[in-house]
Amino acid sequence: MKLAVLSDIHSNYVALQAVTEHVEAWGADVVVVAGDLVNRGPRPVECLNFVQEKQRMRGWQTLIGNHEEYVISNTRHSDTPSGVQFEMRRSSYWTYLKLNRDVSALQAWPFKIDLNAPDGSAIRLTHGSMRGTRTGVYWHTPDNELPALIGDPLPALFCIGHTHMPLIERSHGVLIVNAGSAGLPFDGDTRVSYAQMTLRHGQWDARIVRLKYDRAEAERDFTDSGFLDEGGPLARLMLTELRTAHSQLFQWNAHYEEALLAGNITMEDSVREFSSHNRDSRMYAMGRYISYLPAPARRLIAVRLVSKRNWHATTSD
Ligand SMILES: [Fe+2]
Ligand SMILES: [Fe+2]
Repeated sequence: MKLAVLSDIHSNYVALQAVTEHVEAWGADVVVVAGDLVNRGPRPVECLNFVQEKQRMRGWQTLIGNHEEYVISNTRHSDTPSGVQFEMRRSSYWTYLKLNRDVSALQAWPFKIDLNAPDGSAIRLTHGSMRGTRTGVYWHTPDNELPALIGDPLPALFCIGHTHMPLIERSHGVLIVNAGSAGLPFDGDTRVSYAQMTLRHGQWDARIVRLKYDRAEAERDFTDSGFLDEGGPLARLMLTELRTAHSQLFQWNAHYEEALLAGNITMEDSVREFSSHNRDSRMYAMGRYISYLPAPARRLIAVRLVSKRNWHATTSD
């Protein structure tokens, strides 16, 4: 059995085309799009239509991510779109309008998928973890917290996305695979990331595939779609994320949310100031290299460096 997991495409239609070509050439038996297909990027309609066509024609399966939830949440806002709160969710509102306010397809996507492999072993897939779409599994997640994130009963294979950082590790008898992000990686590597899992002789084997694609075209989509002009100042940070493969919004939010809500800085000024400092990029570069180390070394570093910072309970996207 061959299982492909694509996650966190984030309206990057060019990356979606590239990863699909590779997945189909590989000959996956089961393909799961593990959430965050839309939002935080320029071509949500094309991405949704494309995946829906694959659902109909090829049996692709989908999961809901926190970004689908952000887009859906626009159905509950009756206020006039203005003010700081609106500016912070403007990207999802833009996506909502592009979808003609029709989020019925996204609302139908499940939180988790449980599958049985031909040998009877269990496979569980969800966007972040069983604790929620915004609670991810990271290289520094403490080992004793993993069972609650994987859910009961423990499956043989647990597949996730959300963190935009690929990861493969075995723990508590479970092969844990984070597919990384197909459309917006945050590990310093701008190539598409997706996961291939193969069941051979009763054993699951996993590998992360990285693919070059036409990033110049993906960048042009930010302008041509109108997203860069209409998505508000934060759309510029999203473009920086695409260019650098480093998360920007999480750090921007941590630095400016309080001041913004208090009216001490404008959205425009906060983005300009943040962009000029490009905060925390060294921390993310370090994370990328640490993620390639063997699990025991990563755990040691996690305990030594970051356990007191409670990163595991936060969301990076
Ligand atoms: Fe994401
Ligand atoms: Fe996510």
